Order: sequence, then C-alpha cells, then structure tokens
Amino acid sequence: MKGDIESVVTKSKSNKRAFDVYNVRNDFPILNRLVNGRPLVYLDNAATTQKPKAVIDNLRNYYESDNANIHRGVYFLSEVATEAFETARLKVKEFVNALSASEIIFVKGATEAINLVATSLCRAGHFKDGDEIILTEMEHHANIVPWQLICNNKQMKIKVIPINDNGELELDKLDSLITEKTKMISVVYISNSLGTINPIKEVVKKAHSHNIPVLIDGAQAAPHLKVDVQDLDCDFFVFSGHKIYGPTGIGVLYGKTEFLNMMPPYQGGGDMIREVTFEKTTFEDIPNKFEAGTPNIAGGIGLGAAIDYLNEFDFNDLTEYENELLIYGTEKLSAIEGLKIIGTAKNKASVISFVIEGIHPYDIGTIVDTHGIAIRTGHHCTQPVMRRFKVPATARASFSFYNTKEEIDKLAEGLKKVIKMFKQ
Ligand SMILES: Cc1ncc(COP(=O)(O)O)c(C=O)c1O
Repeated sequence: MKGDIESVVTKSKSNKRAFDVYNVRNDFPILNRLVNGRPLVYLDNAATTQKPKAVIDNLRNYYESDNANIHRGVYFLSEVATEAFETARLKVKEFVNALSASEIIFVKGATEAINLVATSLCRAGHFKDGDEIILTEMEHHANIVPWQLICNNKQMKIKVIPINDNGELELDKLDSLITEKTKMISVVYISNSLGTINPIKEVVKKAHSHNIPVLIDGAQAAPHLKVDVQDLDCDFFVFSGHKIYGPTGIGVLYGKTEFLNMMPPYQGGGDMIREVTFEKTTFEDIPNKFEAGTPNIAGGIGLGAAIDYLNEFDFNDLTEYENELLIYGTEKLSAIEGLKIIGTAKNKASVISFVIEGIHPYDIGTIVDTHGIAIRTGHHCTQPVMRRFKVPATARASFSFYNTKEEIDKLAEGLKKVIKMFKQ
C-alpha cells in the first residue's frame, strides 16, 4: 500500500510542467504590450499580479456560457455555476491545505478578511475593555486599521513587535509584550514593503503557549511560498486572489472551524440565513454564514483557475526562480552609487524597496515609466515602516516568476539614467 502511494506522488510530480520563464511569459498576454513605445517591464507584482490566459479565458467562458446566480437555483445553469463555485472552494482548500472546505470563506480580499475577523470576534465577546492586540511594526495598513476600529469601541490597546535595522522582527521582544490581556496576535507573513519573511511558526507556537489566537496576513506569502495552514497551525490566514494571478475582488479567509463556528456573521442578507422572521433570524453553517448576498461568483471560479494554473508547476521551481531574481536584483541595484536598499533581512522574498540619495521616489517611478518600467513608489500602505526607516517613501520593485534578469538589467539602466538626469 505504501509503495502505491509513493508511486502516485512521484507520477504527479513528474507530470508537472517544466519551468521555463520564456515559455511562461507566453501565458500572460499583457507582457507583450508596449508602454511608452517600449516593451512593458512589469515590476509591481506585490501590488497586483498579471493574469495568465487560462484565467482570462475562464472568466470569459463563465460569463459566455455558465453565468447564473448560485445556491438557490433548481435549474441547470444555476447548478453548473454553483458546482463551479464550490469546486473553486475545494481548490482553495487544497491550495492552503485546510482541513475542510467549510473553513474557506470567500471575501473581497485580504482587507475584508481581516475586517471580518476583527469585527466578528469583537461581536462574539472575544475582547473586553483593556484587552490587548499584538501586531508588528511592518504591518500593512489592512492589518492595523481594522483592529484600531474595534479597539476604539472597546478601549483596547495595540502593542507592536519592533523591527531591527535590517527590517527583521525583534522576536525576542514578544515575550515581554504578551500579558494575560493579550487576546490576539496578528502578523504579516511576508512584508510588502521590505520583503521580510517572518518566522511565523515561532510566533504561532509562542502565542498558542499562552492560548492566544493568531491571524496571518498571507497577502504576499500566498504568491511566493507554499502555504500549509495545518502545518503553520494558525487560527486565521488571509490572502487576495489578485496577488496570486486571479481576478480582483475575490479573496480568502481561512479560519479554524472552532473559531468560525463561535463567531457571529459579519454581514447579514441573503444566502447566509436558515430562517428569517421579524423577531429573529437563524444562520447557515460555515462557510455560508459569512457569505451574505450574491458572492463574486466569477471571481471565485477565476481564482480556482489561477490555482489550477499554479498547480501546473512544481511550486518549488517558481520559488527558486523568484529567489534567483531577488539575489540578482539585489546585486544589480546595490551596485548603483547613491542607491540604498530598505529591507535587508536574511530571509526575504521578491521585493526590493530602495531610495536614491537626493531624488524623490515619485520622480524615480515617473521617469522609469517613460522607459516602460512599472515600479511602485510611495509608502506602500505601511507608513509605520517608512517612519521606522526615516524615509517619506520608497521605490519598490517586486518580482514574479514571469520576470527576467534582462528586465532587472533594464531597471538598473533606467535608474542610472534617472541619477544622471538629476546630476545635470
Ligand atoms: C501584506 C499585505 N496585506 C494586506 C494587503 C491588502 O490586500 P487587498 O488590498 O488585496 O485587500 C496587501 C496589499 O498590498 C498586502 O501587501
């Protein structure tokens, strides 16, 4: 029996598509377009990823031949759409290795998922006046503001794990931040502005030894790391479809059954009810309890198609290649005089944030755009990180597996031109 299982695993592994970046680029139609007369060099993947033809075709096909509202219909098309949507949920379940598909809640994105958890836990009476929530100094605003909104109601306090000059968590400070009032630790897995990969398992272990639940903001982790929520043992994990090659407007909240069952609904409306009277409403079981109204049906199915696309590859091949790009990019950009990388953690993924002496990041972004190069500039929704490094903003190049070393060379050349322009 054991032999049988092993042979199935080997076979499915060898069935994976060999990774070849030039071949992969053909899957993404937008990469063939020109911007300002130059071939597009898209290096803003931390903001959103481009979509493979498989996802675009899936969306078109859904609207052309399968569109109907789900769950309530007894007719053919509604059943087809319902099955496709619920199959997508199963694909997400496999993608993050959840125990059950009912632990997968479809939401708009990572932001809505965190708002859902914060609001619903608060309504469940999980937090009392004077309780504390621990975040890190490198959180995206999406993992700060929702907690502040509920804290203001409850007079709760937010405590922050600081980061060092490399942009790494000072995890040794966590012990002294935890008290008997700590009711939640919410931590970003990979920082969108620094690229730091945090030691999430250690955080979860420590938190659980004090019976504190943990939410992981996996918005940047889902595209770059193989996620296994059971192995991480986190209580909640959130991510957005558009950052893993799926459509915008769809995202995922994974929650452990015990939490999702005790949490009341986030929004009320259709599809999440069992029975409604003017006196009282009873609710559906999870996941429907948290999916009020018509969901983003096409988005969910499109996210399933994005996961199918990623599953064509051995995820390790993608991660290794992206790491190669990060090392190459770091060497290339560090060699530019006057350029300083912000975020030099030992364990990093796919993001290079930088500043250039005497030149505002907005100018850098605007000028390289004239060469067809798309990078992001600003605070990246992480103003506390900017404050920590005493910069108003950074320029940020973020990579996907469809980027090439030639594109990084073009960025480096573009940056040298920016510096030359400002020296004149
Ligand atoms: C680390 C992190 N968390 C949360 C978010 C919010 O994601 P969304 O805007 O898709 O909800 C982002 C988006 O950039 C992010 O990078």
